[in-house]
Amino acid sequence: MPDAMIEPAPSPFPRVRSGDLTSDLDLTAAELRTLLDLAAEVKRQPNRFRLALRGRILSLLFEKPSLRTRMTFEVAAKQLGGDALLTTGPIGGREPVEDVARNLERWTDLIVARTFSQETVDALARYAKIPVVNALSDRYHPCQALADMQTLREQWGGWRGRKLAFVGDGNNVAHSLMLDAARLGLDFVCITPPGYEPDTKIVQMARQFAVETGALIEVTNNTEEGLRGAGAVYTDVWASMGFEHEAAERARVFAAYQVNRELMAMAGPGAFFLHCLPAHREEEVTADVIESPVSLVFEQAENRLHAQKALLLMLLDGPAH
Ligand code: CP
Ligand code: NVA
Repeated sequence: MPDAMIEPAPSPFPRVRSGDLTSDLDLTAAELRTLLDLAAEVKRQPNRFRLALRGRILSLLFEKPSLRTRMTFEVAAKQLGGDALLTTGPIGGREPVEDVARNLERWTDLIVARTFSQETVDALARYAKIPVVNALSDRYHPCQALADMQTLREQWGGWRGRKLAFVGDGNNVAHSLMLDAARLGLDFVCITPPGYEPDTKIVQMARQFAVETGALIEVTNNTEEGLRGAGAVYTDVWASMGFEHEAAERARVFAAYQVNRELMAMAGPGAFFLHCLPAHREEEVTADVIESPVSLVFEQAENRLHAQKALLLMLLDGPAH
């Protein structure tokens, strides 16, 4: 289509008032909804946005491996008219985190950081004058949860009156899903082995958000009880990055929580299967479930791109000046 015929992107974009996404909590409930609406629009009409961040450069700092998060931020930056530069390795080893932040803000427009510790991403945000995005820490995975909420709405048309069951380790991905579900009115249950429950402070916060939306937020060790009525079943690796040394012990503890056909049968009829990926077949999920028609894992992976484009549009003030 000739350029003149492409309707330009609606501008200015709505802003994220906190200026960062260090955790899901940096978005208000209203901003979360706005972002997901924008993500749907970006997915429908990507060409309208192809110059929206012209000249903007992202710093990608990755302490841990990544396929989806890294690639989707790079592709997002390029498809919006900007670019992204990757640095891997420890943040704050060679020089203090505050110095890293104060260098990057002189050359680039936004920092995307995948860190072992939430403290590192928080410190980057404290010291950098440019926006900082959490690309997965030990505590949160907000970019993942955005794409997952987009994916579920595409299937259901909305979130209210639906139930998402997370089965596995109650850590970063579970925390982010719980906080977003509570604010979108989606019932959420976190089903874990004893000792792997989500952080109680995060559960309390989610329950407070849920007072507004009417969402039910539950935590249980019982798969049958938790899965009853669930319209979607979500799992994640048993040994997150940084916990690989516990893999053997976790394989034993989590065995009864494997998402297989029997476990899927405990959920509501036609329940979808979700996984943030990477997946370990025959560990947290069987091959027949992840490869089945109810599996949405590649829809989730695709939506990482669209949701993060919306996030970048709402954090950056249009093209470079
Ligand atoms: N889901 C996810 O964050 O994937 P990567 O670890 O490949 O980025
Ligand atoms: N919980 C996993 C998520 C990977 C995307 C981890 O932290 O390794």
